[in-house]
Formats: sequence, C-alpha cells, structure tokens
Amino acid sequence: MKKRLGVLVSGRGTNLQALIDAGKKKNYPTEVAVVISDNPNAYAITRAQKANIPVYVIQREDYKTKREYEEKIKEVLISYKVDLVVLAGYMRIVGRTLLLAFPMKIINIHPSLLPSFPGLNAQKQAWEHGVRFSGCTVHFVDEGVDTGPIIGQKVVPVYDHDTPESLAERILKKEHKLLVEVVKKLFTENYKLEGRRVIFLKDKEDEKR
Ligand code: GRF
Repeated sequence: MKKRLGVLVSGRGTNLQALIDAGKKKNYPTEVAVVISDNPNAYAITRAQKANIPVYVIQREDYKTKREYEEKIKEVLISYKVDLVVLAGYMRIVGRTLLLAFPMKIINIHPSLLPSFPGLNAQKQAWEHGVRFSGCTVHFVDEGVDTGPIIGQKVVPVYDHDTPESLAERILKKEHKLLVEVVKKLFTENYKLEGRRVIFLKDKEDEKR
C-alpha cells in the first residue's frame, strides 16, 4: 500500500504535478490522496482534477479565525488518512492547529538555499544579492517562516546573463526533482532529529547510537 500525501497549494501546482507523476510509478512509495487549495483560481486544482484526485477549496476568508480555518483543513487531511502533508506553493504561514495535529509531518519546498532568502520572491532576492549559487530546500515546517529543520537541498548556478525569471525557472526544475527525492527518502529510510539536524540512518545499528 502506498503512503498517502495531502498536498496544500495556492497556485500553478508544478510541484504537485511532480508528486502526482511520481506517484503513478509502481516503485514510488507515495500517492497524492487529497489536494487542498486556499485559492479557488489555482491551476493546481485543474491538475488534481485531471488526475482524479479529490480537491477541496478552503478559503481563509470563509472562517472567522485562523484556528477555525485550519480546523477545517485538519478535518479533511485526517479524513483522507494522510501520512505526510506537503506544502507545495502554499502561500500561508502554518499555525498551531495544523502543526500540533501533524508534528514533524509537514514539509515545505522553498526556492532558495535556506537559511538564505526566506519568505516571498526568494529567487529575486538571491538574484539581487548577487549570489553565484542558489537552489532549493525541502524542510520540516515549524512556526517560523521557512525556518524548520532542513531535509534536502539542491544547488543551481547563477549566471551573469540571468534574470530573476530565468533563475527561477532553473531552480524550479530542481525543485521537482528534490521534492520527489525527499518524499521518497522520508518513507524508505529511517531518520532522526539531532538539534535541528535531520540525520538519515543507514541501518538499524546506526539507529541505536
Ligand atoms: C515554488 O517555487 C515553491 O518553491 C514555492 O512556491 C512555488 C510553487 O510553484 N514555495 P508551483 O505551484 O509548485 O508550480
């Protein structure tokens, strides 16, 4: 049986697509069980529909408080028995309701080498700063903005002729690979947290140390 992902989105959903496509492969450990969008116009909704994946639009403005909004998301995720929650271009800060319901079970993909350039427009921030390398990060989600323990990263070069857009495009291709790799790793390898370091354990012996 495949492990079940709940994917939260707000936009075009190319990272969601990467997880949908990977999930169709026989030897890949997960499938997307449910998609939740906070934006009724997100193209990610169409991607989910095309793949026959249940999709829920849950909008913040329909709830009085963030807690009530997240209670609704939590209810849907629990009803689909998800094993992991993936934020794939979800443009909101996750609050305590979801963090407490899914401890160490929420991951996010961010388009920079964290801890550099957290927050919005990370690719443009990196380009403006003049870094020679940037990339992407998948991390566990905590109460901060792009601050949780790092699970995986990929590096891309920044060229002199780059624009923020061309850099973002190069990073995005790596994001799709990284996200698919990290999700697989989380379900096929043992890991533990030491401080804020995510340590993957090669075998059972390592685990005892
Ligand atoms: C990606 O760049 C991701 O790193 C960031 O938001 C963007 C989402 O893109 N968090 P998409 O919706 O997956 O195409």
